[in-house]
Amino acid sequence: MKKDLLTFNDLTRDDVHHFLARAAALKAERRAGVFHYPLRGKSLGMIFNKHSTRTRISFEVGMNEMGGHSLFLTGDQLQLKRGESLQDSARVLSRYLHGLLIRTYDHDEVVELARWADIPVINGLTDLSHPVQVLSDLFTIQEKLSRLDGVKVAYVGDGNNVTYSWILAASLMGMHLSVATPPGCRPLMPETRAGDGVVEIMDDPLAAVKDADVIYTDVWVSMGQEESEEKIRCLKPYQINQQLVEATGREPLVMHCLPAHRELEITSEVMDGKHSVVFDQAENRLHVQKAILETLLSR
Ligand code: CP
Ligand code: NVA
Repeated sequence: MKKDLLTFNDLTRDDVHHFLARAAALKAERRAGVFHYPLRGKSLGMIFNKHSTRTRISFEVGMNEMGGHSLFLTGDQLQLKRGESLQDSARVLSRYLHGLLIRTYDHDEVVELARWADIPVINGLTDLSHPVQVLSDLFTIQEKLSRLDGVKVAYVGDGNNVTYSWILAASLMGMHLSVATPPGCRPLMPETRAGDGVVEIMDDPLAAVKDADVIYTDVWVSMGQEESEEKIRCLKPYQINQQLVEATGREPLVMHCLPAHRELEITSEVMDGKHSVVFDQAENRLHVQKAILETLLSR
């Protein structure tokens, strides 16, 4: 396994299966009240330049539950904000910490930090990608459907950082991903993709969801983007509603990485309905983040 987790290109299929197996074990142990402390004496720095509920809390609680400690650092308060270089910051932080999680705008900054850090660097979301979210989503799908190989996921909505990570993940894990977005909201396409999954990008949400095992969506306006009435108007036909769920012709799982804007990208009827697994999906962030921390920080 590589030192850092910056995108799915850092992972092999075996790495993903390792994380999913460890997350399942950690989830079962937590439910049984069994804890172990492999990260005793270890510290995780967490730099957040954007808002977060799930990522921050799941990593922070995960460190605590495994005997470690986390430091919540807002970019504003670090000397980075006053011009200290990423190189110098990474080299200094490596002398104190055992791992660094960062959520920021420019993906290249995370790559630069990882290049100079001697400790593992984990991408907690950039404008380009959100791998820890999608790794956790794979866990939820495997938990609910008992397989990943050949599963059809329809991603409907704005093509963003989560979509980009889904394209890499589906390719790697042999899944079938149909992405439906308006032409002006296409995701960035990864330059390289390992694996034998199928990825299709299309305009038509009804075509994308046909025979889907999973329907997935995310916010229409991501952090750092400007909300525009025109974008919302373009995305209206891409709302996850009862009609779209029925258009699968199946009993699909409905997923959303959250936070949700109810009645925009997803209706409350669907989000609170029988197909929705969004709150299990949110819970699973904790178990998967623990698996990542345990693996990367206890080496
Ligand atoms: N899904 C997700 O990453 O949520 P937060 O922005 O709350 O961390
Ligand atoms: N695409 C969203 C994901 C939030 C978890 C954003 O970047 O704001």
